Amino acid sequence: MKKLKAVIAVCLAAAMVIPFAACSKSNNKVIMSTNAQFPPFEYHSGNKIVGIDVEIANKIAAKLGKQLDIRDVDFETLPNEITSGKCDFVAAGMSITDERKVNMDFSDPYFDATQSIIVLKNSPVKSRTDLNGKTVGVQQGTTGDTYCTDEDKKADIHVKTVKRYNKGTDAISDLIAGRIDAVVIDDFPAQKFVQNNSEKLVKLSDALTVEHYAIAVKKGNKELLDTINSVLKDMKSDGEISKLVEQNKSALENG
Ligand code: ARG
Repeated sequence: MKKLKAVIAVCLAAAMVIPFAACSKSNNKVIMSTNAQFPPFEYHSGNKIVGIDVEIANKIAAKLGKQLDIRDVDFETLPNEITSGKCDFVAAGMSITDERKVNMDFSDPYFDATQSIIVLKNSPVKSRTDLNGKTVGVQQGTTGDTYCTDEDKKADIHVKTVKRYNKGTDAISDLIAGRIDAVVIDDFPAQKFVQNNSEKLVKLSDALTVEHYAIAVKKGNKELLDTINSVLKDMKSDGEISKLVEQNKSALENG
């Protein structure tokens, strides 16, 4: 009987402790969702996900005193990661758009970007307007996709067909294979993709848009947003962000 009581006491104690343990464990983590198909902002290196956004996210985690967990998902599902609470923030070279602002809050911008055009070296496409009537590859759900799809017919360019890919690299493969006429993707990854296939590809000097990358959180999560903004502010003022960008540029040039 004594033994049984002891067992019950242990079980009760455990039942009281375990939920707290589980709770503090999840509180110890901050979860970032991204799409690691976007060098140099996020990409796979061996079995790790690395890149400029990961460096920033590590600083955010450090400031929160938490461990960073990364969820790697399709780019187009990122808004849902936030609204459904699967992550705390999205860092994915994500551009601020009015449409996205409906479902999430954005930090201060940390990088300025444009949509670039990549073509085969001997392509007849030499400028942005040459995209008229062409078949263009984009990464699904990106601003490049929105621009080329042009649902509200605001763009000055009307491509014939938009082919959507989960990965930028798959669009590049189709371009090299001659299945599409051009790839529209953010300028920095575009440089990277061209550099990896410099025999075959060129990036046109014409750009299509002006965009600003920011980190996204759940609507109303002001506390986290304030922390993120203070980390970004520090990283901008101490030159850390420019340093990361420069490092990745020279890695592009030398690699
Ligand atoms: N800047 C573009 C956008 O916001 C593309 C970002 C793609 N990022 C990625 N991690 N795949 O739509």
